[in-house]
Amino acid sequence: MNEQIQGNQINASGHLTIGGCDAVALADEYGTPVLVYDTAKIRHQIQAFQEVFEENEVDYAVCYASKAFANTAMYQLVNQMNGHVDVVSAGEIQMALHAGFPAKKMTFHGNNKSEEELRLALKVGIGLIALDNFHEIALLHRLLEETGGRANVILRITPGISAHTHEYIQTGQVDSKFGFDLASGQADEALQRVLQEPRMTMLGIHAHIGSQIFELAGFEGASEKLVDLAARWARDYGYQTKILNVGGGFGIRYVSADRPLAPQDFVNLIIQTVKQRTRSLNIPTPAIWIEPGRSIVGPAGYSLYTVGARKDVQGIRSYLAVDGGMGDNIRPALYDAKYEAVLANNPLAPVMETVRVAGKYCESGDVLIQEQALPQTKPGDILAILNTGAYGYSMASNYNLNVKPAVVFVENGRSTLVTRRERIDDLERLDFNLDGSSRA
Ligand SMILES: Cc1ncc(COP(=O)(O)O)c(C=O)c1O
Repeated sequence: MNEQIQGNQINASGHLTIGGCDAVALADEYGTPVLVYDTAKIRHQIQAFQEVFEENEVDYAVCYASKAFANTAMYQLVNQMNGHVDVVSAGEIQMALHAGFPAKKMTFHGNNKSEEELRLALKVGIGLIALDNFHEIALLHRLLEETGGRANVILRITPGISAHTHEYIQTGQVDSKFGFDLASGQADEALQRVLQEPRMTMLGIHAHIGSQIFELAGFEGASEKLVDLAARWARDYGYQTKILNVGGGFGIRYVSADRPLAPQDFVNLIIQTVKQRTRSLNIPTPAIWIEPGRSIVGPAGYSLYTVGARKDVQGIRSYLAVDGGMGDNIRPALYDAKYEAVLANNPLAPVMETVRVAGKYCESGDVLIQEQALPQTKPGDILAILNTGAYGYSMASNYNLNVKPAVVFVENGRSTLVTRRERIDDLERLDFNLDGSSRA
């Protein structure tokens, strides 16, 4: 059996269970593809992060990076757990508000926030705006003058750290579209500008070095750089940093061979580094904020698919096609992300072959798993891909005019539909006739 599955996840029928629910019954009830979240795992991870801070007695915020997966129920769950959220668009802001999430606990990120989005953020009283570039400082200045409002801001800086991860998900290196560069003096110039803004309250410094990072060194280096910067800004500009936001990026286990540290261990190291460095530089320890996305929702997600066609290429390989693919999980095609799958209707059956798990989309690159050892399968079997909770549904598309799957939360043997499967009429509703007239 796949070592990522616990013994107690197999029920009397020999099926995989998720959060105490039979995966085959879930596939039956909600149809496939369906994304199922074991919400107890989400709660435990948020709590584990909060506990490290509590044990270390530092001021903190655990801001869930909602780009990893966002819907109404998810924002409500984070709110129940007293978390903050990181939002990056009007859509995420509106959805969080719709879920009853307090605007004060939102941090607004992004490298090209539009005027409309910034207006919305100001109107709803967003807690913190992470300024990313000079264009945004000027835009926010104009909007604050016009509205007579105020905003709490932090500056996102690129610390010049290349985290050891896929090139597309590195963000802290100098050659990046995000943030104010430290080495060239951009970050200092940004600070000086913001300090002159009577309507902006400068609360601190932010850096996010990348995603799916396994090594401690990047976080240690970034934390040291941020503290050094805070100390220098205190000395040179008399500015006292109140919040040090170190971003997210804590790596998770996707395949059995992955051996990441527990996400909270990364955070413990960050806290120790910040505490020691601030002590030695003789500045107060600021509040430490983190923005984990993947580590909160990734391991909690299971994608259930129905097995369909099979193609055996003599002497080369067999393709097993499922009823989803790059439209509901683009990560393998986008950055060669690896996953593992189990046969949900018989996870204990002996492995018989290695197949390539392909999707149903019209791209040769629509492959979910390059090589997966599986028992003998037949059409109608249910395949569960593990650890699909982050950046799958949130990056889903309607490619080939396929609809996006349903999302179901499960806990203690109960399942709740939290996002319904799209229907074709959802897509049709957006369209007009060739002459521009409505079809409705
Ligand atoms: C600013 C910022 N914070 C947090 C995150 C979350 O990263 P992860 O999901 O790897 O924890 C991202 C991801 O891209 C980000 O850009």
